Amino acid sequence: MSKQTVFSGIQPTGDIHIGNYLGALRNWVALQDDYDTIYCVVDMHATTVPYDPKELHDNRVLTAKLLMAVGVDPSRSLLYFQSQVPQHAELSWILGSMTPLGALNRMTQYKEKAEKAGQMLGLYSYPVLMAADIMVHKAHAVPVGDDQTQHLELTRDLAERFNNRFGDTFPIPEQITPKRGARIMSLQDPTAKMSKSDADPRGSVLLLDSADTIVKKFKSAVTDSGREVSYDQEKKAGISNLLDILSIYTGRTVDALVDEYADAGYGPFKQAVADAVVDGLAPIRTAYNSLDDEEVGRIMSRGALDARTRAEHEMADVRTKVGLGG
Ligand code: AMP
Ligand code: TRP
Repeated sequence: MSKQTVFSGIQPTGDIHIGNYLGALRNWVALQDDYDTIYCVVDMHATTVPYDPKELHDNRVLTAKLLMAVGVDPSRSLLYFQSQVPQHAELSWILGSMTPLGALNRMTQYKEKAEKAGQMLGLYSYPVLMAADIMVHKAHAVPVGDDQTQHLELTRDLAERFNNRFGDTFPIPEQITPKRGARIMSLQDPTAKMSKSDADPRGSVLLLDSADTIVKKFKSAVTDSGREVSYDQEKKAGISNLLDILSIYTGRTVDALVDEYADAGYGPFKQAVADAVVDGLAPIRTAYNSLDDEEVGRIMSRGALDARTRAEHEMADVRTKVGLGG
């Protein structure tokens, strides 16, 4: 049997943090073994909020490099820039005519972003383009963090609507989230997720942060006023977040870590988390520094060529079904 297809995307907004890695990218890498994997730097999504063109341009290559540095392997995965495959936008238009405004009005990410960026059509229809990204490759599964659940629900709904109206065409894609790490919280506000758009840079640990910076950020992490290291996401959100991070980076269970650190005091516990993250990120930095920008650019161009061929094959079928065939 042929392999199932996995698709996911990340915005080239530069500062990729350990939340992105633990919630999504780690799965991107792992899934390469068993699936036909397609990963995309979704640069068109990044134009839905105010941005600087030069920064966007530079961040695209930087993001592609980081993806390769964490282990996305272009010889096993199809990797490309969304804007270089126009079939995404074409399918998005077709899906737009099947998307009830009610569904878009409920999107919490839109509400949050529109407050800052203004109520713009591109931002509003962002989830439709995301559905098109996934569907243009007939993907079966999508590795993302918790915050994408609403968008994935819309994608499934659109796939079902299309299939009902035009005949069986798209798989209904499953969301893949890790058991631990699907929602890493900000180090400065453990009730909010770690986010690229956080105004306080100490809230997020970036993949390329220096060892010094990482230690400083963990040392200043907001916790509660207690003394005991224990797991309670409501009463001890900060400490629980750190336990989640330490557990993933050490491969040890949270129970074992609580046993070891319960009475150690927050200072030494934070140092242990920082040390584990520094160790975990070191190979990523080394890999990143060994990559050449021009070579990365060439790999991305080849990826776009393959992705266009594949997406065009699927779109030819879609055009025929919706009455726009040649
Ligand atoms: P974005 O930063 O919005 O481009 O997100 C890229 C990927 O990282 C998506 O799959 C998100 O769901 C995931 N992600 C973003 N922030 C977090 C977080 N704080 N914890 C876990 N996953 C996250
Ligand atoms: N909305 C996703 C995010 O903010 C990025 C994204 C765009 C995406 N298109 C996608 C993720 C398709 C998975 C599949 O993280």
